[in-house]
This record gives sequence, structure tokens and C-alpha cells, in this order.
Amino acid sequence: MSKNISNIKVFVSSVIPQIGIDMLNQQGFAVSTWDNLTPIPRDILIEKTKECNALLATLTGKLDADFMNECKHLDVISNFGVGYDNIDITEASKLGIAVGNTPGVLTDATADIAFGLMLAVSRKMFFMHKKIKKGEWKHFTPTQNLGVELKNKTLGVFGLGRIGIEMAKRCKGAYNMNVIYHNRKQNTEAEKLLDAKYVSFDELLAQSDVLSVHSALTEDTKGIFNKAAFEKMKPTSIFINTSRGGAHNEEDLTEALTTNKIWGAGLDVTNPEPMQKDNPLLQMENVAVLPHIGSATIEARNGMSRLAAENIIGFYKNGLVPNLVNPEAMKKS
Ligand code: GLV
Repeated sequence: MSKNISNIKVFVSSVIPQIGIDMLNQQGFAVSTWDNLTPIPRDILIEKTKECNALLATLTGKLDADFMNECKHLDVISNFGVGYDNIDITEASKLGIAVGNTPGVLTDATADIAFGLMLAVSRKMFFMHKKIKKGEWKHFTPTQNLGVELKNKTLGVFGLGRIGIEMAKRCKGAYNMNVIYHNRKQNTEAEKLLDAKYVSFDELLAQSDVLSVHSALTEDTKGIFNKAAFEKMKPTSIFINTSRGGAHNEEDLTEALTTNKIWGAGLDVTNPEPMQKDNPLLQMENVAVLPHIGSATIEARNGMSRLAAENIIGFYKNGLVPNLVNPEAMKKS
């Protein structure tokens, strides 16, 4: 698949760390970039992509079937992110467009945010911070501001993959938490590593003291944490989502918190995103919300930039996308 690289045009549709752009330039690609921090409007994205052979995109651009058919000439899309629910993979594969992502490099950063949110919720940290800002720190009150402890509690992981495993390791190491999980497929390696137990979805809901979502967003997981699910959880439980907001129904979550079906929630992803500033969840004592910063460390974002560039370089240099998500597309190209 070695082609004359200087004829290959790559469009980078978001501002990303320079390392990936430098790598593409060093290889001789003709790189053009969207240089504005606000997301590229869809019509400009299509217009620019039409002029290019490859696209390096981020999750803010919806690359749906219409987009794919407008840009069916594309060879490869490299997604700056591990999740690729922003891309219609079936359509890309049908059109022979290879799609790559950036797994692994953001695992620790995202697990840290899940762990941090769990701790923040258990001690109401974000709410306490707001109280001081409002001038409400008056005196020491032995019966007020009480949180809960995590030691020896049960962590339920929904989606025990790379990030779920790191979250579980942190919880075991720090609090000797007992780990249960629910996946599409049993992960026996991880079971050995964490002494984790596979349970049904209903058992996960019923037994978890902390339930942390780490699954990909698919047709099967969309809205799976809904009213019926929250009703099966313990009234003392904490719900954490650092995966995709689409996995939970936010109205149902808000209701579950206000009616004490669950005790607290920590979200790095919301449904929809961005969350509006008047969202009732932001006023709740036992809730902590962050603006989708799971992978936002210098190390992780540089790693993502590097892997995103490597997908494009690999495609044109040797016909291999190192982190390919749709092998079926390559058979067509
Ligand atoms: C970020 O959310 C990612 O999927 O990498």
C-alpha cells in the first residue's frame, strides 16, 4: 500500500497536541488543520474532508452515514479517542473506509477520574467546596457534612476492560474493595488478577456499593442505566460514569437521586453534553460532575495524538492501521 506520501492530504478537524501533527509532517503528508478551539461546523468539516484522503477526527464530530456518503472517497479515519460511537462504523466498513482509534494511552488517566469522582462523591467534596464559596462555613459541626467510607465495600464494574480493570485495581489497593463485574463476555484473565466475580446485570445492580460504568456506548448499552435499573440498586449506592453519558438516562438518574433510590453519583460524562449550568444535578449534595476530562492529562493527550497519527502513517506506509477498529473495511481497500 506504499503510496507517494506527499500526494496524500490529511485533514485534522480539531486542535490536538502538536506531536501527532509533527509526525505527519515529518512523513511528508500534506496536513491541513482546523485551528479554532470551538468544534468545526459540519458543513466546513465536509468541505475540508472532501479535499483530503485521510481524516484525523475527534468525538465532537458526528461522522454518521450521511457524512460517510458525502466523503466516501476517504481512505482512513483516525479517531482521537478510544470510544468511537461518534462514527458509523458499519457505513464506513461498507464504503471500505478504515477507522482507527487510540486505546491504552488514556487508561490510567480515565481510571483516576473514576476513582477521584468516587471519593469526591463519598465525602461530598464538590458540594462542600461550594458551601465555602457561598460563605456557609461557620463552625465545626459533629453531626453535619457526613460522608460514607469505602473500605471493604463492593465495587461493581460495568464493562471490565482496560479502564475498568485499572479502576478496580485502585479500589482494591486503596480500600480492599470486593470486585464484581458484568460484561458481554466473561473476562477470566481479569478475574484472576482482581479476584473479581462475574455477575448478571441485575446482580450487579443489587450488590454494588459503587457501580462504575466503563463500557463502550453501543445499541446494547444505550440508556441501560434507566429508572428500572436505578430502582434495583441499593439506596446507599454510588453511581459513577466516566464512559459515555448515553449509557444513563439523566432524568431517571436525577429522579433516583431525589427519591433516594441511590445515594450519590459522579459523572465525567453527561447526557446530553455539555451539561447546562442550571442542571439540578449540580445543586445536589452527593453529586460530583466533571466536563468529560477523563483523558485530559498531558501524557494521555500526547499519547492519543501520537497513536492517531500512527494510524494514518501505518495505513499509507504499509497498509496496516495499528489500532484498527473495522478490519472488514481493509478487505475492500
Ligand atoms: C474519550 O472520551 C475517549 O473515548 O477517548
